[in-house]
Amino acid sequence: MLKALAEDLRAGRTVADCRFDQVYPPEIRNLSRTHWTPVEVAVKAAELLRPTEQTQVLDVGSGCGKFCAVAALSGPGRFIGIEKRPHLLAAARKAAEDLGARRASFLPGNMADLDWSAFDAFYLFNPFYENRMKSIRIDETVVLRAEKFFRYVEIVRSKLTCAKDGTKVATYHGFGGEMPLGYGRVDRVSIGTDFLELWVKRRQSAEVGSFGRHPHLGHNKN
Ligand SMILES: C[S@@+](CC[C@H](N)C(=O)[O-])C[C@H]1O[C@@H](n2cnc3c(N)ncnc32)[C@H](O)[C@@H]1O
Repeated sequence: MLKALAEDLRAGRTVADCRFDQVYPPEIRNLSRTHWTPVEVAVKAAELLRPTEQTQVLDVGSGCGKFCAVAALSGPGRFIGIEKRPHLLAAARKAAEDLGARRASFLPGNMADLDWSAFDAFYLFNPFYENRMKSIRIDETVVLRAEKFFRYVEIVRSKLTCAKDGTKVATYHGFGGEMPLGYGRVDRVSIGTDFLELWVKRRQSAEVGSFGRHPHLGHNKN
């Protein structure tokens, strides 16, 4: 069953979320609607990021690894997730192995403590929102506080500010803040329950002449 699922993703065939989510145990599957990227969105995000075989994409807060597994099966590139909840990290590693998604891998820990400089691209599905919104909390295995939401958003902004020119960022439901200066939005697709947006970091000198202030590209809006 999982072999056929992986084959369908490799071949570009549509896979329903309820089918993909069978790879996870029920308690993780039940969180899918709110917390895990829908298959269709993950495939589209990977397509927008246009990775090559060498591209390293970091999924910031990778949960049970659904984005990384789907993206790795549906196209080129290496998809690395970082996740602070150990049981979700374990589920992500098991699912990727069961699916044969060899270009999906996962790191334990807090995204704030990771050096982001080795990555070419980032994916964010509003990872810190449960700190603000009690009703959508995944569980009580980590300490959640509104203050953390704002702190983490600022850390993401600061890490993206330091990222190399050409860095791509795909967001689904945003990441909770505005993209830092130097990033221009180059695509916006209505999909799933919100928008998938693609941002690219350009050299500051080239920025104003290209899309730095272009009204239709929504510079620094998120
Ligand atoms: C909305 S889920 C997205 C999961 C995955 N990216 C996907 O799209 O399927 C956000 C995940 O981020 C994790 N997370 C939140 N803050 C984090 C942090 N500071 N460092 C690492 N992981 C974090 C949560 O535990 C949760 O699993």
